[in-house]
Amino acid sequence: MRKLIAGNWKMNGLKADGVALAKELVRRAAAGSPAPDLLLCPPATLLTLVADVVAGSNIRLGGQDCHTRQRGAHTGDISAAMLRDAGCSHVILGHSERRTDHHESDALIRAKVKAAREAGLVAILCVGETAQERDAGRCLDIVSRQIAGSLPEGLSAAELVIAYEPIWAIGTGRTPTPAEIAAVHAHLRVALEGRVAGAASVRLLYGGSVKPNNAWELLRIANVDGALVGGASLDAADFWAIAEAAA
Ligand code: PGA
Repeated sequence: MRKLIAGNWKMNGLKADGVALAKELVRRAAAGSPAPDLLLCPPATLLTLVADVVAGSNIRLGGQDCHTRQRGAHTGDISAAMLRDAGCSHVILGHSERRTDHHESDALIRAKVKAAREAGLVAILCVGETAQERDAGRCLDIVSRQIAGSLPEGLSAAELVIAYEPIWAIGTGRTPTPAEIAAVHAHLRVALEGRVAGAASVRLLYGGSVKPNNAWELLRIANVDGALVGGASLDAADFWAIAEAAA
């Protein structure tokens, strides 16, 4: 399966930084070394600017969240239709920071995945356990519950990407062992059977402290079809090194 390397900029980047970062990545992509599919998920304020920069390149654009409705009286929210209109092909949903900061439940995330699909966006659904849950041996249960609770019926593989992001690995410099990641990804693959048409071709990303120095090893694990990269996606050289490790 062709790998996907997605950069989640989170709440980082003013206009000048975001445009410079995107331009540098477009320059590197145009220089032609073999690259996987690349996706940038800047903050909402930068979407249209970055869309202009990546237009005509093979780099695609994604949002970091969307509302469950496409329009209406929802101050401060952004709809999937708006993301699509801004040039997005994807949207990250259910990131652990949203689950924590905004108390997002599986049911809410499920409604957002539906909204993304309605608007023609691919949902990147994030799942993952806390350190306590892992220590208690509940990791596979937790991701199963998240998959069961947040995936609507009737999705096909082309409409969905899953990102396994252990919460304790995000921004910490720690990662699970390759064997631990392989076990979760194998479990996810099975959990998608019967829920998603073409489950075998849903891309399963790993996220959580993916860096240039561990990308090669992480991206070679069975059923790891790419990476969702936070901190290292804010540096063009680091993000590019991860992309090259995937190629
Ligand atoms: P990190 O973040 O790469 O900075 O650990 C990953 C993520 O939260 O998607």
